[in-house]
Amino acid sequence: MSNMIVFGTQWGDEGKGKIVDILTEEADIIVRYQGGNNAGHTLVTGGKKFILHLIPSGILHSSKICLIGNGVVLDPQVFCAEIDKLRDSGIAITPERLVISKKTHIIMPYHKALDQARETAKSGIDKIGTTGRGIGPCYEDKMARVGVRAGDLQNLDLVRGKIDKALQEKNVLLEKLYNQKPLDPEDVFAHISELAERLIPFLADVSQKIQGACEKGQTVLFEGAQGVQLDIDHGTYPYVTSSNTVTGNAAAGAGYFYSKKKVVGVVKAYTTRVGQGPFPTEQDNEFGAHMQNKGAEFGSTTGRKRRCGWLDLVILREAVRLCGPTEIALTKLDVLSGLETIKICTGYQYQGQLVEYPPQEENSLARVTPIYEDFPGWPQDISGLRSWENMPENARKYVRLIEDYLNIKVSMISVGPDRDQTIRR
Ligand code: GDP
Ligand code: IMO
Ligand code: MG
Repeated sequence: MSNMIVFGTQWGDEGKGKIVDILTEEADIIVRYQGGNNAGHTLVTGGKKFILHLIPSGILHSSKICLIGNGVVLDPQVFCAEIDKLRDSGIAITPERLVISKKTHIIMPYHKALDQARETAKSGIDKIGTTGRGIGPCYEDKMARVGVRAGDLQNLDLVRGKIDKALQEKNVLLEKLYNQKPLDPEDVFAHISELAERLIPFLADVSQKIQGACEKGQTVLFEGAQGVQLDIDHGTYPYVTSSNTVTGNAAAGAGYFYSKKKVVGVVKAYTTRVGQGPFPTEQDNEFGAHMQNKGAEFGSTTGRKRRCGWLDLVILREAVRLCGPTEIALTKLDVLSGLETIKICTGYQYQGQLVEYPPQEENSLARVTPIYEDFPGWPQDISGLRSWENMPENARKYVRLIEDYLNIKVSMISVGPDRDQTIRR
């Protein structure tokens, strides 16, 4: 069986968690390779809802192994809270089935303090609208080669030294630039030492685990977080997250290169975005309100209302060329039921020209005019349907149009949040 990658094609929240949960049945190991608890992946099974921020979405399947790769940034407090919550729901979490790479960077209290202080200090278009979880500052320290890694927790003297050095710099920023209270190195160290005890049993060599599984002919599922338009290089910079969300990062962030892959691009049947930044097909009107209400579009991490708009084929083309999906999982098609006319953006007008890919100048997506094709909707509720043949003809046309434009098969159609509300083709 070939390995799999599941990634978000838009601005995140496409329904990756649900798709990973379903595809976990065909996998042995599920690995997260980037992002942190800025993610919120929702799984619903038998009406019961789980939101995972850090732990891979395969965790509900008791026989599967979940790995947190080196490319993730891990908040130890969130990790512990998440495993406690899962255990309370009767899910067995042991170091045999949940593993953290020793190379994974740790989100420290000063990363969260800086993320929040910076966002608070910014105003207007300068605000990114981050999740405030310390993601950016943690990746900054990784690149500046001063980060604390999970494996360091086995050597608390090393951690203590890194905290002291970090705070010499960060406290100046917090106090002098942002008018915030400085952090006491003693407190930070005590906090991390306590959490270290709980984390250490979960540490291991993730690369080796993946290698071992592949050598046995097992299937590894690489679970992406966020979406292509939030990629640090290829997204709507600077309104992006601080990691590479494109599938090419799966090898670096998991610590294993495996070329034969099924690559599943998750596409929401319309578009949403949380936080600031350009969004050409946004509908701040009755259509957006329809999607927001019917799709229950509230952020799974911060609870913020998600901005909503029509499907944008320009950004999907970009996701295809950057990530090479071999198939598409189309989610939330049920949400479009009841709209008389549905629009799909097929291109942009930009500086007097028709463009089919996003222009590359900073913030250029704020200056494009979307070109739409109108499409007849369908009145029926499709959330109870389980077969392609029973779908309303206009819904099938909508799916085929996406396939034709992108030249990729839609292999899964999701018509509701529950695991069961899925049509395989
Ligand atoms: P992720 O971050 O990509 O995993 O997506 P989120 O979990 O943040 O957001 C997707 C939301 O849509 C969650 O509340 C899911 O339960 C829900 N969802 C997923 N698929 C469907 C679907 O096909 N129809 C509807 N109505 N909701 C869905
Ligand atoms: P999942 O995996 C949607 C957005 C934030 C903000 C920007 C930067 O659930 O799809 P950050 O805290 O990462 O520095 O914030 O990125 N963002 C997401 N939006 N879904 C996500 O994850 C997101 N993770 C980050 O809202 O605009
Ligand atoms: Mg989400």
